[in-house]
Amino acid sequence: MVGGRGCLARGAIFTRRTSHVHRQSLPRRVRATVTLVDISWELAGMLNRRTVLAAPAAFAAAHALTPSAPVDAERVREALAAVVARSPDDLARDNDFWASIARAFDVDRSLVNFNNGGVSPTVATSLTAMKRHLDHTNTAPSKVLWTTLRPQREAVRQQLAHALGTSPDEVAFTRNASESLQTVQFGVDLARGDEVLANDQDYPRMINSFRQRERREGVVLKTIAIPTPCEDDDEVVRRYEAAITPRTRLILVSHVINLTGQVLPVTKIAALGRRRGVPVLVDGAHAFAHIPTPIDEIGADFYAASLHKWLFAPIGTGFLHVRRERIAEVWPMMAAHEGIESDIRKFEQIGTHPLAPLLAIAEALTFHETLGAERKLARLVHLRDSWARRLLENDRVRLHTSLKPGFSGGIATFEIEGVDTRDLYGWLWNERRILTSPVVRDDFSGLRVSPSVYTTMGEIERFCSSVEHVLEHGLPT
Ligand SMILES: Cc1ncc(COP(=O)(O)O)c(C=O)c1O
Repeated sequence: MVGGRGCLARGAIFTRRTSHVHRQSLPRRVRATVTLVDISWELAGMLNRRTVLAAPAAFAAAHALTPSAPVDAERVREALAAVVARSPDDLARDNDFWASIARAFDVDRSLVNFNNGGVSPTVATSLTAMKRHLDHTNTAPSKVLWTTLRPQREAVRQQLAHALGTSPDEVAFTRNASESLQTVQFGVDLARGDEVLANDQDYPRMINSFRQRERREGVVLKTIAIPTPCEDDDEVVRRYEAAITPRTRLILVSHVINLTGQVLPVTKIAALGRRRGVPVLVDGAHAFAHIPTPIDEIGADFYAASLHKWLFAPIGTGFLHVRRERIAEVWPMMAAHEGIESDIRKFEQIGTHPLAPLLAIAEALTFHETLGAERKLARLVHLRDSWARRLLENDRVRLHTSLKPGFSGGIATFEIEGVDTRDLYGWLWNERRILTSPVVRDDFSGLRVSPSVYTTMGEIERFCSSVEHVLEHGLPT
């Protein structure tokens, strides 16, 4: 049964236990004052260019062919080359093809990981690149970080912006979606009594960020209920519109709800925000590199995501997109010089940090582009349908996720009537080494299941037959 509790769950409470500054773009006065250490290294480079460049070049040559042991990159390339002409839906069913793609990952097959939505294994080419950049950094950290690696960030920014369908001047690198979202949530000026609007299934940390502003500054958080599951975009937009008041200053909306994988109509909500003069912040943590996220077409003021979920980039990578005209309005989390007030890089002034994960985003983007966003989504949907439609044959199984095209991607959440979600989660892990994610709320509960492109049909079979065992025999008491 899909949506056993209907489309109107309400009043839910979530109870899960759970700089480099572009100097050329700055006025001369400001350029002279940007971080002393940078300037020292520029001078060092000018004074002794040969010495400064020699170590990185030697390092790169020595590491150019570093192999990644269990990963057969050539096999992955060959598999991709052989399928260019096939449709994504056709290819989604070709398990041999996806077995080749799985070779791009070095995962632990002694367990079944169906919590890729939480955080994903990094694709091996990206992991190798990150290790290489890290080793390189360590040869002469200040020199390598600030003169060699930091400028390379701009090429990665361009590649990411291209994948997002937007301009590099509007994309900042962060460490995760939380940092991106909180940059906006804490960075917009709000007066006592000003309202912010969210929904009751937005991510708890993001709700807590607004709650903190409530306690600290007297800002008011209003939340609307989202139907579970929901197949009516206009109803969602109506609920947001009905909650807007003359004091509403910011709308937060998840592109993909983490609890169920439900896709929300963010393009329509962004249009609503424009019509009513309220900026819209989209939480795309689960969306980018999973479902289509054409940032400029979506038209939100702010869009934030992690890159360690569905892009398969190193853990600790994310981005924040801010529409050009909004950049100056948002205070960065860490202070930046006023001369870069309108520069997206003001959100990256976080002090010394590793550039290795950031630069290795490039390899994850390359893998994503080569695999193809449509092919990837079609496979994720095929995997979801394979387990969800099979379990739905039993009428004690409820699905809290719509399987209709456009309303979800590779994530879905199910519940067995009469079986405690936490107990089911524990049994699957303890007895079968199958990892899922428990969702326990007042209005619905269930296990969130999120396989990935490296998942095998054998793993789907193990999962389904384990759940069917529980359906037949119950859980041990
Ligand atoms: C909807 C949503 N927003 C934000 C986040 C935070 O992401 P991160 O922990 O990568 O910052 C998550 C994490 O699962 C999420 O699901």
